[in-house]
Amino acid sequence: MHDIIRQLDEKRAAARLGGGQKRIDAQHGKGKLTARERLELLLDPESFEEWDMFKEHRCTDFGMEKQAVPGDGVVTGYGTVNGRLVFVFSQDFTVFGGALSEAHAEKICKVMDHAMKAGAPVIGLNDSGGARIQEGVASLGGYADVFQRNVLASGVVPQISMIMGPCAGGAVYSPAMTDFIFMVKDSSYMFVTGPEVVKTVTHEEVTAEELGGAVTHNTKSGVADLAFENDVEALMMLRRLVSFLPSNNREKPPVVPTEDPSERIEMSLDTLVPDNPNKPYDIKELIVKTVDEGDFFELQPDYAKNIVIGFGRMAGQTVGIVANQPLVLAGCLDIKSSIKGARFVRFCDAFNIPVVTFVDVPGFMPGTAQEYGGIIKHGAKLLYAYAECTVPKVTVITRKAYGGAYDVMSSKHLRGDVNFAWPSAEIAVMGPKGAVEIIFREEKNDPAKLAAREKEYKEKFANPFVAGHRGFIDDVIMPHETRKRICRSLAMLKEKKLENPWRKHGNIPL
Ligand code: HXC
Repeated sequence: MHDIIRQLDEKRAAARLGGGQKRIDAQHGKGKLTARERLELLLDPESFEEWDMFKEHRCTDFGMEKQAVPGDGVVTGYGTVNGRLVFVFSQDFTVFGGALSEAHAEKICKVMDHAMKAGAPVIGLNDSGGARIQEGVASLGGYADVFQRNVLASGVVPQISMIMGPCAGGAVYSPAMTDFIFMVKDSSYMFVTGPEVVKTVTHEEVTAEELGGAVTHNTKSGVADLAFENDVEALMMLRRLVSFLPSNNREKPPVVPTEDPSERIEMSLDTLVPDNPNKPYDIKELIVKTVDEGDFFELQPDYAKNIVIGFGRMAGQTVGIVANQPLVLAGCLDIKSSIKGARFVRFCDAFNIPVVTFVDVPGFMPGTAQEYGGIIKHGAKLLYAYAECTVPKVTVITRKAYGGAYDVMSSKHLRGDVNFAWPSAEIAVMGPKGAVEIIFREEKNDPAKLAAREKEYKEKFANPFVAGHRGFIDDVIMPHETRKRICRSLAMLKEKKLENPWRKHGNIPL
């Protein structure tokens, strides 16, 4: 018996060593943690249950039969984050560069299948050279098996990808189908084809970092949701994200008790909106002063900054926040911001997270760049997402709500449950200047007359009461009581039930 136990210990020690001390040192030398060190930081202490530690690849080509490493380049299993169950896989770059073999894929598929049965999130720590070249199509098949599970799990359990090293070729498509992608600066990158191929095909000279580094995907492409300085920060923030999410689509999000009174008054909000309607202000100030303890977990902060998205809590309950940002492009909706907002609203809807929307939007962005880029189709994504959404929806119009953008931003007409406006709200087809220039075109050469018309239009329409008369706005509230009114609304909506008609699936304008 002692011999068997010793053998087991030896086998475990060999598996823990992955590709060997030299490669572990090289990994550390790049400022990266190993697959196991990462799991230790991500999961609660002593909570990790590892599976398939002894699994090996079955490849016999290119001398691979002599190079089997127990675990085959990925550490898999389950554990807890703040006491809540999560399934994990962590690719081990020290073993064949974390490349995905058939056996490696089987290990990932196993945790995904269990996550679906148990109703718990899947977290993938990606650090891989892509398909295991020696295995050829077996490896491609393995990827497809993972992709298929990503799609079936979408909207059922949260899926989170942390990119902590290379992620190239088709390998990027599994993270792309998960709900959130986080990246580590300077050590992670994602691209469909690397710099060499780019140079051959398009003659562009670009570094891996420029092509697909964390900064690129968090500012230019919008592929990633957040970028972090190093592995440790990234994993701590991943734990924080998990704290906002329900474990699956049948659960409500976790409630975190708070000392912050739900009836808290915030007098400074009464002066947030400047008197001059063309002067911007920071919508994040409203968000931070409204959510529990000022704790706002923003996503995609450096991409499409004209819309702000992220998680917060109201009276302990997770909410998704969507807000136009007057500081950037005057808060206009354009292609990027529409897609950013739509995807977030759909995530919240899939996982029973109420949506709180702060509106200050002068409309959709005009111009050829937007029209040629398909703003019609992309703007419609946000419209579709809000209209399809059945979770509690509370909306506060702080200032402008013009045109189609008024309709889109969780209006009463798209089944907004509670729609508030601040006294500074202006709800109309368009701004006063543009409006009078169209309806009083014949007076365009008479500035005095036009100014008088503008004043008249402002008095008539640039306020919340026209919408209030029709019941499109449930109440005009004082800015300082925003938190209180939202908390009450959400409490009222706690047991909200609303179902869309049966269908196989809708056809969101992709
Ligand atoms: C097998 C691989 C490998 C791979 C790396 N290794 N990638 N082994 N298959 N795909 C091995 C290396 O041989 C090396 O082994 C070890 O991992 C570390 O690699 P290095 O090159 O020394 O490390 P580094 O300099 O940091 O470069 C990392 C890298 C590079 C950028 C990832 O290795 C690389 O370009 N690899 C190939 C990437 C690629 O083209 N993958 C296929 C993409 S196509 P030793 O023994 O020396 O430690 C794809 C299709 C998927 O993924 C399609 C799905 C639909």
